[in-house]
Amino acid sequence: MKPRDYTPLLTELEQDYRDHAPTSAVLHTEAHRSLIDGGSHALRLHQPFPPRIVAAKGGWVRDEDGHAILDFWQGHLANVLGHNPQVVTTALARALGDDWGLQTGFTDRLQIETAEILCRQTGAERTRFTTSGTLATMYAIMLAQSFTQRDRVMKVGGGWHGAHPWGLKGIHHHPGRPRFQQLDSEGLPALLADAVVVTRFNDTDLLRDHFRRHGDQLACFILEPFVGAGGFIAASREYV
Ligand SMILES: Cc1ncc(COP(=O)(O)O)c(C=O)c1O
Repeated sequence: MKPRDYTPLLTELEQDYRDHAPTSAVLHTEAHRSLIDGGSHALRLHQPFPPRIVAAKGGWVRDEDGHAILDFWQGHLANVLGHNPQVVTTALARALGDDWGLQTGFTDRLQIETAEILCRQTGAERTRFTTSGTLATMYAIMLAQSFTQRDRVMKVGGGWHGAHPWGLKGIHHHPGRPRFQQLDSEGLPALLADAVVVTRFNDTDLLRDHFRRHGDQLACFILEPFVGAGGFIAASREYV
């Protein structure tokens, strides 16, 4: 079958969207003056430009052009209680009013209490707090490397674990192409070329093959139970 040309439809839809959200369009142009790519996270920079949000509550956000938008994205799916839930905003407001809430650079009682809840809920023995998911996954990989005395790491093509060198290998794949292809971030050190084995999500046979061939060199296999950045594809039970 001859592939259809969707260009006219996409052009029309883009114009509709520009007419619908003119303030966000202008802000996107302004953003490029001071922000690389117009924003600091690729997943937020929808094409041709993202809606710029002014308020968010529960399941809804409001953009600069006054539209209420039902939000299924919810802060990269992290807002399990919806946007700005009162249980959190009230506690935050109280903490800030009590001269508490911003980083002090000291240790405190609250960290102990939070860690105890986390350990209880997850079954972990102990906890280390980090300031980003990137650091958490980087430390987890380094911990595995130190423990196993092995260097190689396996990850899922298209999986996102943050902006450290191991995570920036194989960040994209092209399902439309005949063979699985990976794409790495620019700027990765050459010595990393062999350090990461990129596997295909939900392909159990390939996974078995990788373990057979590289298993005794692998420090860890890092994966999500779904590919969040790849379109929220869930793992099969067999794969996990
Ligand atoms: C599964 C997963 N791991 C790690 C990260 C990195 O977290 P951060 O952006 O806080 O560095 C993300 C961020 O989207 C993620 O989705």
